[in-house]
Amino acid sequence: MQLTRFITAGNVDDGKSTLIGRLLYDSHAISNDILENIQQHNGEIKLAFLTDGLKSEREQGITIDVAYKYFSTEKRKFIIADCPGHKEYTRNMITGASHADIAIILIDATNGITEQTKRHTFIADLMNVPCIIFCINKMDAVNYDENIFLMIKEQMNDFKFINTHQIEFVPVSALKGDNVVNRSNKMRWYNGHTLLYLLENFDPVQKGVELSSFIQIQYVTFENNERYFYGQVYGEFYENEEIIIYPTQQKNIIKDIFIVGKKTDKAQHTQPIAFTLQDDTDLQRGYFVLSTKNLLNESIENKIQLSNKHNAICIWMDETPLITNKRYYIQHHSFRTYLKFEKIEEVFNLDNLQFEIYQQQNISMNAIFRASFVTAQPLLVADYRQSDFLGSFIIIDENSHKTAGAGIVLKTM
Ligand code: GTP
Ligand code: MG
Repeated sequence: MQLTRFITAGNVDDGKSTLIGRLLYDSHAISNDILENIQQHNGEIKLAFLTDGLKSEREQGITIDVAYKYFSTEKRKFIIADCPGHKEYTRNMITGASHADIAIILIDATNGITEQTKRHTFIADLMNVPCIIFCINKMDAVNYDENIFLMIKEQMNDFKFINTHQIEFVPVSALKGDNVVNRSNKMRWYNGHTLLYLLENFDPVQKGVELSSFIQIQYVTFENNERYFYGQVYGEFYENEEIIIYPTQQKNIIKDIFIVGKKTDKAQHTQPIAFTLQDDTDLQRGYFVLSTKNLLNESIENKIQLSNKHNAICIWMDETPLITNKRYYIQHHSFRTYLKFEKIEEVFNLDNLQFEIYQQQNISMNAIFRASFVTAQPLLVADYRQSDFLGSFIIIDENSHKTAGAGIVLKTM
């Protein structure tokens, strides 16, 4: 059965956990023993408890970590990441969004669009989540008023997206169950689909069209006089295939390929493999191995860039503001080197949704900005829209070891 991943995002208290609880409850995805646990003394069901797993969360009634939930209907299997709404937890949303097919962004109808709505929409856009569903929630609290729904929809329609997405608007009440799994008879003015219908009928698209077959080395072992390289395959690889290694740009030939210890002549997309090379060479953790057959195509060669200087859109996640010319780590999946921001060029203004020239303000937590940086060792990158793997990275504080930021490479905007 097809697997669809989605995240829920939105302001604190917009009803994300309640909405997921409602989805699970109305699609009969919960067992009776769990149901008993969440039943309150008055017989009412506290739907948010279905998703808010941590104890301290339950006590405070907020979601802290990303809570993953699995459920399935007759049509599909789902993995849900319930992201916390608090501003301090934007990084959890980014983690969730980088793997999601669909982002559900909740908007509280009694409150309207907030800064957090825009921030989350921007992140979902930036991370290229294929489908964004705006759920205008708590419609019960505004008398199921169509005008409120239309007003919010109109405001969101002004949002200038960088990428193309399937965009939907659904008026719901997570609490009462309107238009989540079952159609509401209180909003006859709405003739679109229910949320579950949209989730079940989402047509998955290839997220980043990978440019070339490649493997990033995760680790290397030495057994019986032979060096084995391990990594996950993007695209496909064959025995006896010519490859090129980055950053060294040395050519070599794949000798043997192993999948789960068994020798094979071909490895396919997403398979974790071990392989050996014909000639002994310098190939370490974090290095890339690309198939040379793709590189005969000039347009691909132009899209992949091996360089010490890059330009990217980043989100700052640290309580400590960014310091230009300070040394940070950049983690490009399994490759780590040093980075220094050279120049902050633009900062995203959430009020008018525009990038504006940098005015020397602090780049503090949650700031979205475009900057140029240099790295100690060259990085092999591509535009995020062409390869979400090659195009994304995180920044780590050298002393605290905390994730200080995340970024994606966009060649044109
Ligand atoms: P965080 O995890 O803290 O970001 O909050 P959340 O978005 O998960 O919100 P949660 O589901 O915990 O709901 C917050 C409050 O809004 C609770 O008191 C809910 O009962 C209430 N609520 C959620 N959905 C609805 C709705 O459709 N209508 C009304 N009237 N109240 C709702
Ligand atoms: Mg919650």
